[in-house]
Amino acid sequence: MDVKIIILVLVSLFYKANGAIYELSVADEEIFSSCPNPEPGTLDIHGLFDLSEFSASMDADALTVSGNQTLLWDIQRGDRVQLSIKLFYFDRGTWTSTAFSIYSKDFCKTMYDKSNILYEPWTGHVINDVKDLCINAPGTKLVLETYFLSLSASVIAPLREGRYKATIIFRAFDSKGTERPTHICCEVVGDVFKIRN
Ligand SMILES: *[C@@H]1O[C@H](CO)[C@@H](O)[C@H](O)[C@H]1NC(C)=O
Repeated sequence: MDVKIIILVLVSLFYKANGAIYELSVADEEIFSSCPNPEPGTLDIHGLFDLSEFSASMDADALTVSGNQTLLWDIQRGDRVQLSIKLFYFDRGTWTSTAFSIYSKDFCKTMYDKSNILYEPWTGHVINDVKDLCINAPGTKLVLETYFLSLSASVIAPLREGRYKATIIFRAFDSKGTERPTHICCEVVGDVFKIRN
């Protein structure tokens, strides 16, 4: 899952292209890091998926993604899954909020829809017959086609170059609306710089 590109996807959603091309370079080979100072019950990307059959490799301007992701998160089918993604900018030593954030109250409703923020970088590349299941069905294996994610995006000029991070959180709620004891939190840190006007 290359939500490493999520930063650019987010940015390009909010800012419409006017020709300047920006590139993202991701700080960590592993792409997803654990969230700092986690509250109790926080799991990282390895609490969401078994990634032993998954690979992502980076070259100069694209990421090649392939393999399988098997769901591990111990929640129940039918649980409502909430997704939030927030983008931060590293400003003089401090992570500061930006205007970019995405909130989906019921991620499972649209997991495989083209309108979903994660469709292009991820769920649109699932090729096996699991689309009636969501990430609340542990044991489900998502088989991905091999695909490339470009790390360049066209966004308007006001984008500040520098270091960004996206914090991605999934929470699950049972039918009564009670939150499950664990949630997923991971971060993607990367540097955004302009390569062409
Ligand atoms: C992914 O899963 C499919 C179906 O189970 C299997 O045939 C394939 O070998 C797996 N890929 C990897 C990289 O393990």
